[in-house]
Amino acid sequence: MIRQTHIPVLMHEVLEYLNVTAPAKSKGGKVYLDVTFGSGGHTRAMLEADPACRVIALDWDEVTLHRFGDPLKEEFGDRLQLVWGNFALLYRLAKEYNIPLLDGILADFGPSQMQIAERSGISLFVDSPLDMRMSPAHHMATAADLVNQADERELADMFFTYGQERWSKRAARAIVEARQHKKIATTMDLVAILDRAIPSSPNEHIHKATRIFQALRIYVNKELNNIRSFLPVALKQLKVGGRLVCISFHSLEDGLVKDFFREQAATGAVKLLTPKVVRPTEEEVRENSSSRSSRLRAVERL
Ligand SMILES: C[S@@+](CC[C@H](N)C(=O)[O-])C[C@H]1O[C@@H](n2cnc3c(N)ncnc32)[C@H](O)[C@@H]1O
Repeated sequence: MIRQTHIPVLMHEVLEYLNVTAPAKSKGGKVYLDVTFGSGGHTRAMLEADPACRVIALDWDEVTLHRFGDPLKEEFGDRLQLVWGNFALLYRLAKEYNIPLLDGILADFGPSQMQIAERSGISLFVDSPLDMRMSPAHHMATAADLVNQADERELADMFFTYGQERWSKRAARAIVEARQHKKIATTMDLVAILDRAIPSSPNEHIHKATRIFQALRIYVNKELNNIRSFLPVALKQLKVGGRLVCISFHSLEDGLVKDFFREQAATGAVKLLTPKVVRPTEEEVRENSSSRSSRLRAVERL
């Protein structure tokens, strides 16, 4: 399963909730921040939908940022600014790069379809050192450190909490047994252990190791903490009338966004634009099965 690119999800809905086609209220055009640039599908759509806007695009995966950002930069010139960084540090990045108050911010959380399918160290389909760090510059500990050092209980809890893996205890036990004989060094070492430990289920359409890999990735990259740090700073970085649009892929991410948006709406800081979560249409899911678990929520700053 090799993907050349990431198919952006909920594209039409992102443009609608960011209100990109509404006229700019101030001179100089609107400015948007895409904190999860990925392959740049959403960024491109914003630049095309409003020919007067500027987009600042952020990603912490430097390889991805340049692979997809550099050609887009050639095409759109000064209308696109690429920034390498972690959205959890938005407060610091906004100062460092003079990011102005914004008309809209988009966050499309998690890894891209490509990172999951082909990125060495992260993908369970590529035999490589077991790493899982999306940005080695931002994190020290690798997934290999974790599976070789964490105790059995800690591993089981992590697999259950972040992977919602029903066989979490079995998987943790198998890992602890296996590492007594040989260090778990590569993605395939771990896949082989999980393949033996987790029973097959005829109703499962995903690889047996998928949930454990997801759990390790979320933990190593502190993905939920990053979202917690990002949300309040993002709101402050919006103009009055500016919008924050978040796309999540699992209930842990979506729960954080939902609770934060509700709390802020209750204080009168924002208007909830999506009282009900927005899901992809059946047609989108048919065309891009990776979109099936995506959920979008949006608010407007008051
Ligand atoms: C789902 S993809 C985004 C896809 C993108 N919207 C598109 O149209 O191609 C998520 C991207 O966000 C990046 N990312 C994840 N967590 C991040 C973080 N804390 N800071 C910056 N980028 C992050 C990943 O490296 C990945 O490229």
